[in-house]
Amino acid sequence: MVAWAVAETTWRTILEPFKIRSVEPLGFTTRREREAVLRRADWNLFRVRADKVLIDLLTDSGTSAMSVEQWAAMMRGDASYAGSRSFYVFEAAVRALTGYREVIPVHQGRAGERILFPLVAGPGKTLVSNAFFDTTRANVEAAGAAALDLPVPRAWRFSDPAPFKGNMDPGRLERAIREKGAANIPMAVMTVTNNSLAGQPVSMANLRAVSRICARHQIPLFLDAARFAENCWLIKVREPGYARKPARAIARELFSLAQGCLMSAKKDALVNMGGFIALNDAVLARRLRERLILGEGFPTYGGLSGRDLEAMARGLEEVLDEEYLRYRVRCVAYLAAGLRRAGVPIVEPPGGHAVYVDAKRFLPHVPPRRFPGHALACALYLEAGIRSCEIGSLMFGKGSGENFQPAPMELLRLAIPRRVYTQSHMDFVIEVFSALARRRSRIRGLKLVGSSPRLRHFTARLAPVSPS
Ligand code: F0G
Repeated sequence: MVAWAVAETTWRTILEPFKIRSVEPLGFTTRREREAVLRRADWNLFRVRADKVLIDLLTDSGTSAMSVEQWAAMMRGDASYAGSRSFYVFEAAVRALTGYREVIPVHQGRAGERILFPLVAGPGKTLVSNAFFDTTRANVEAAGAAALDLPVPRAWRFSDPAPFKGNMDPGRLERAIREKGAANIPMAVMTVTNNSLAGQPVSMANLRAVSRICARHQIPLFLDAARFAENCWLIKVREPGYARKPARAIARELFSLAQGCLMSAKKDALVNMGGFIALNDAVLARRLRERLILGEGFPTYGGLSGRDLEAMARGLEEVLDEEYLRYRVRCVAYLAAGLRRAGVPIVEPPGGHAVYVDAKRFLPHVPPRRFPGHALACALYLEAGIRSCEIGSLMFGKGSGENFQPAPMELLRLAIPRRVYTQSHMDFVIEVFSALARRRSRIRGLKLVGSSPRLRHFTARLAPVSPS
């Protein structure tokens, strides 16, 4: 594999393309402490205090390290209520990136979802996607509409190393349009990369095909662009014809195939808080701004401070730096390779922001109603203070007891914060997994003791079950 090159020499080391100026200590704990922490948290890792976590792979969202240029830009932040200078810096950056004229800042991705979906969706309507993220789905459903996932069937074959398993199935899209009628599908949303289905990328060819179908039926296509830059890099290295195209040009092409986007800037804008909606439809934009003022704030700040807008503008530049993207994706691939070597089944091929462990295969003795993905997350925390996130029956399953309906997958996501951990942190995670792999038959499942009905993984209370 070609790695990075300096003066005609190619090196294999994954070089972090930055040096570290400001550091944070890790949360060291003893095993006994971690047992007490888990008991007090009702075996829910969302309830664990971060200073009791050694390596936090719970999410890549809002956890990026900012650059010196971002911090410097923050000092220039203009806190004016209306017409903030920082808004125009931000607007120019989003326009240059996406080509969309209307730019509406929001405080994070789901704020944009909550503003947009009630305007386009309602009872009797269906929104389609390669796969909706959980808050995106919840906001579509809260607007009274149905959220229909149309991934390619290969997305479900976790050991299949096909390069673009984030794609939408164009045949299923045509069928859904025939069955429901184009008038009842007010929007299609393509999630790049597809976080709910293992962070797999969408190919440009697939986006183009979906875009054509949508255009033929006059269905607006929006991107959920939270991880657009990682998707663009995976297009560059995996899709024929893109190897020599700059990441920025690939991004421009990607956005040009849709009519607008929703963005959680907490991912690929390399900031801790922020988001935006961008689009060309001026009429819809006016209605969005009316709703924005109700809940987020005036259209030139949208729930953020001027300094946040500055940091986002700069982050959107930096994320397309090819040295950064190469390091980012290789770092994920490195963790994946180490886990594979340790005999841990993962979703192949690894994507751009996380490695997803197939907990169903890793812990075949734990049935879905005992949450194998979550059991593994707890075991990983107990073993070494590593925090991760289940994407399986705790997150997507329904009901309990007799009425329990499992999710179609039992995964554990190891999401890698951007520019935060080094290769030796990844080596440590691999070492811990190797130890767990040898004792996997002793990992016990958990039972659900209580939860709220929506997005239950955030509030769930669990308890270990005795070995049966
Ligand atoms: N869309 C996608 C694809 C996401 O992954 C997320 C968040 C959102 C929308 C919502 O954005 O958090 O800024 O409101 N994903 C986080 C995660 C929470 O851990 O994957 P938000």
